[in-house]
Amino acid sequence: MAAVILVGTQWGDEGKGKVTDFLSERADAVVRYQGGSNAGHTVEVEEQQFKLHLVPSGILYPHTLCLIASGVVVDLEQLNLEIKSLEERGIDIGNLRLSSRATLVMPYHKKIDEIQERTGKIGTTGRGIGPAYADKINRVGFRVADLLYDPEFKERFKAEVERKNLYFEKLHDEPGYDYRELYDQLWAQIEPLRPYIGDTSHLVYELLKAGKKVLFEGAQGTLLDIDHGTYPYVTSSHPIAGGACVGAGIGPTRIDRVIGVAKAYTTRVGEGPFPAELEGPLGNVLREKGAEFGTTTGRPRRCGWLDGVILRYAARINGLTDLAITKLDVLDSFETLKICLHYRNNGRVVTEFPENLTLQKECTPEYIELPGWQQDTTGITRYEDLPVNARAYIEKIEEITGVRQVLISLGPRRDQTITGGSFF
Ligand code: IMP
Repeated sequence: MAAVILVGTQWGDEGKGKVTDFLSERADAVVRYQGGSNAGHTVEVEEQQFKLHLVPSGILYPHTLCLIASGVVVDLEQLNLEIKSLEERGIDIGNLRLSSRATLVMPYHKKIDEIQERTGKIGTTGRGIGPAYADKINRVGFRVADLLYDPEFKERFKAEVERKNLYFEKLHDEPGYDYRELYDQLWAQIEPLRPYIGDTSHLVYELLKAGKKVLFEGAQGTLLDIDHGTYPYVTSSHPIAGGACVGAGIGPTRIDRVIGVAKAYTTRVGEGPFPAELEGPLGNVLREKGAEFGTTTGRPRRCGWLDGVILRYAARINGLTDLAITKLDVLDSFETLKICLHYRNNGRVVTEFPENLTLQKECTPEYIELPGWQQDTTGITRYEDLPVNARAYIEKIEEITGVRQVLISLGPRRDQTITGGSFF
């Protein structure tokens, strides 16, 4: 099998960075297909911690090609900073490729994001993601190739900056931008990236044709999908498996396997419904034990028990073939654990994730209780050696989703992982 998609099954922060890193060792190429620098993937290698936002986690392996595909919105300043910090730590970025079709995140997108957050709170990461995708869909965005090759770029850019300035100055009493300054900045930022820019869709096609192993790395999670998530409290892209085909520019028939990453409990950052949220002391315990603070913004994450309704939904929407369960060790000390099997709304049992915000807010979770294992699992490397109650917890997740686990993560390090079978 050659093409594997890895997606988040919850609201992001499922520990995809570590799983991607683990699979990258076995992959010939890793492809980021959506999102932008709103993503924060933490990877720990030999006592070193890497926090990646735009560059695929595979960059830590010298043999793995790392592609930022056309579905990603790219903040050139952030990308250069990330590359610089990787190089300072001795990581070679020669294997990086950036799609010439990728849309650019401009400084004015970040400012619009900030203004919008002041007036209607989604709890975004403030990285300009929504406004950049809005411009892309509205066909007033700028792609990498436009900047490099379009002779009319400067004129178009000037007109667009002037339009944006009207919005800032007339509607929000904020200073606008000098398009010449922005233009010069863009050129200074794109120059060092030139050697890495190309047609990543074609590259993926060639890799798959040659039987190479390609991993498509999703950012955020299923419930943050613009169409299938908890709209409007979502991100502006398609983190779901279908998004990999669109964002990377490959046909769905090329995909062999879809692995869903599920944290052993649930977290969410930003606003929006979260039926299984624990707001009292138990939520704090999960936050502290799981170090649940955002990689990109440092915000404390909202925490709750595992939500089976969401996982079943994610299994369906993504067509999951496998599960990777992360942070199981965070539950080590609990005497009992709960899993939400369904919700209740006005006396009615709800087994499918509700399709709109009002219904999502009205639902209260109903749980089953399982005994904890109260044993340190962080050094365990074989499934059979897990405490019997930990295995029962995993098997319950498999039963709820109808999907088998292929990887269990018991700590941030690469060696704190249980795997069964091959991935490609
Ligand atoms: P945006 O993607 O910055 O527009 O933020 C929209 C929503 O997605 C907010 O609730 C963010 O907290 C959430 N979000 C965006 N990126 C991530 C991520 O990588 N992990 C978790 N939540 C995210």
